[in-house]
Amino acid sequence: MNFDRHRRLRRTEFMRDMVRETKVAKEDLIYPIFVVEADDVKQEVPSMKGVFQISLNRLHEELEEVKAAGIKSVIFFGIPDEKDPEGHGAYHDHGVVQEACRISKGLYPEILVILDTCLCEYTDHGHCGLIDPDTKDVDNDSTLPLLVRTAVSQAKAGADIIAPSNMMDGFVTEIRKGLDDNGYSHIPIMSYGIKYASKFYGPFRDAADSTPSFGDRRTYQMDPANRLEAQRELESDLEEGCDMMIVKPALSYLDIIRDVRNNTNVPVVAYNVSGEYAMTRTAVDMGLLEESVIMEQMVSMKRAGADMIITYFAKDICRMLDEGMK
Ligand code: PBG
Repeated sequence: MNFDRHRRLRRTEFMRDMVRETKVAKEDLIYPIFVVEADDVKQEVPSMKGVFQISLNRLHEELEEVKAAGIKSVIFFGIPDEKDPEGHGAYHDHGVVQEACRISKGLYPEILVILDTCLCEYTDHGHCGLIDPDTKDVDNDSTLPLLVRTAVSQAKAGADIIAPSNMMDGFVTEIRKGLDDNGYSHIPIMSYGIKYASKFYGPFRDAADSTPSFGDRRTYQMDPANRLEAQRELESDLEEGCDMMIVKPALSYLDIIRDVRNNTNVPVVAYNVSGEYAMTRTAVDMGLLEESVIMEQMVSMKRAGADMIITYFAKDICRMLDEGMK
């Protein structure tokens, strides 16, 4: 017979384990937590079964679960008591995510805390920056100083990593300078510089109460049809000094993750977003798909080139890893 015998390396479990190219580990996972400023809330997000909004005064319950699962890092999103056109809650020294960070660091200093630098959860109109009264569009340059204030207040609260997700041009330059000028030159920037205007964010906007009250985000987030544009975003963010690059969403954008991996040597992060979670969760809960598809999706993102994954499935993955799934 004159052909290759690929099946030789698939013959036994041990052999398959030995030649496996991609592995998922607990260290790869970043778990998003929605924190409510008002007291005594623990409420499941209707479109995201298994994900909760939790108040600052009960945050310890969630952190205890995170710790017990073996998750090493979290990213906090805030639901403030009050919103206004300028998103003051985002850059308040005692804002909701700043306080969440202090609580987390007080209880479990070893858990790495990432804070998302954006205004959309704090503005009453739900956009990621200040609205120009004439054009009704988000104004890039007047938004930047507010993002810098937000990032500095987050670093002051003890954040280990600053993750700007607002998609204003120049945010890495400005935030880097702001952090450096305030004594935080050691804090890395994980840039959400490749962020598409995606319908897969729907459940997140329910959870974070951040749906724009008018218009959409297409003048600042990227067109899902564009691949080369991701390259341009990547080039500017690297030049501006970002330390890690997020691609978001992840599963419908695996080609972009691969491009980024091939074109940079900074760590690449896949954001497995809320809509991706909701779809898979629902299919698994309905018995349409086996639970192991969740692991298959994690493996796909890592195989595409992601070093880390931000995922609402982090607790489930940790359990599956404990049970020996690969
Ligand atoms: C804030 C932000 C968004 C997400 C993370 N940070 C949403 C948006 O642009 O509306 C989405 C995350 C998810 O869907 O899981 N700008």
